[in-house]
Amino acid sequence: MDNLEKPHVFVTRTINKTAISLISESCLAEVWDKQYPPDYETLLEKTESISGLISLLTDKIDRKLILHSKGKLRVISQMAVGVDNIDLVAATESKLPIGHTPGVLTESVADFTFALLLSIARRVVEADREVHRGLWQPWGPEVLCGADIYGATLGIIGMGRIGQAVAKRARGFEIKVLYYDCTRHPESEKAWNASYVGFNELLETSDFISLHANLTKENHHLISKDQLSRMKSTAYLINTSRGALVNPDALEWALENHIIAGAAMDVTDPEPLPADSPLLRFKNLVITPHIASASTQTRANMAMMAARNLLAGLKGERLPFCANPEVYLKN
Ligand code: GLV
Repeated sequence: MDNLEKPHVFVTRTINKTAISLISESCLAEVWDKQYPPDYETLLEKTESISGLISLLTDKIDRKLILHSKGKLRVISQMAVGVDNIDLVAATESKLPIGHTPGVLTESVADFTFALLLSIARRVVEADREVHRGLWQPWGPEVLCGADIYGATLGIIGMGRIGQAVAKRARGFEIKVLYYDCTRHPESEKAWNASYVGFNELLETSDFISLHANLTKENHHLISKDQLSRMKSTAYLINTSRGALVNPDALEWALENHIIAGAAMDVTDPEPLPADSPLLRFKNLVITPHIASASTQTRANMAMMAARNLLAGLKGERLPFCANPEVYLKN
């Protein structure tokens, strides 16, 4: 196909090469290869000329941007499972399908959830920092003691694909699994011996609480002072879903006042967390920069899935993984 006939596609960061090659077979792909994501104005300008967009969770795609494309944009394919950065209502109203990448990152994120859980409970990051700073204390009965994972109670908030994969891993540690969700999941109760409990009961009885909910307007700052106050003073909060599920001021208050034992977060509010964030002073807070799905293989799989969604959208076909399937309803 002649380059001039190919639809113009904008990819907002460098992604897996094989996915770019696949896109380039039938599209003119422009890849933003800078270290930082394009700013909003740049994205807005690009939408004037493109037919397809591969977006990331760092790109704000609001109503203004969607309307700005004046119908030329045929598909947005997000390389992420979460699409809370995209105004889905505006996209659906504009008949614009939004692709996403559910499933392929489930196991990697569940693995990483356990990496955080183990790190905070057994003080792995804190201990490593001491050793690197030349502060290795001789073995001592009370040096760097943490909490046991084996036999603990884990409360999972949001029993979707990732919550279930975390519950599956918990079995190997003989962890007792509780969960809270807006609907019951009898298959998880059976398969992973998970018990459905009320939200407050989960907060009050868990040794570890792990968040696996999509971010919505309703659950913004779901974990605030009241919820943290209900947690045991020996309990830990883990978050690998979206930062804004946790109110950062409330978390600072809880850590400062020893309301909880610690927290481990792969996601924060805001992201990136500013270097002068007051949260960074706590030893009992492990923070990683939103990398739970970042295994080389998983990121390659996500990129390929995003490429396939994009190509389907450009051809006018139904996206294999669509975040707003209402777009296909006839009215
Ligand atoms: C990552 O956070 C994702 O939503 O895929």
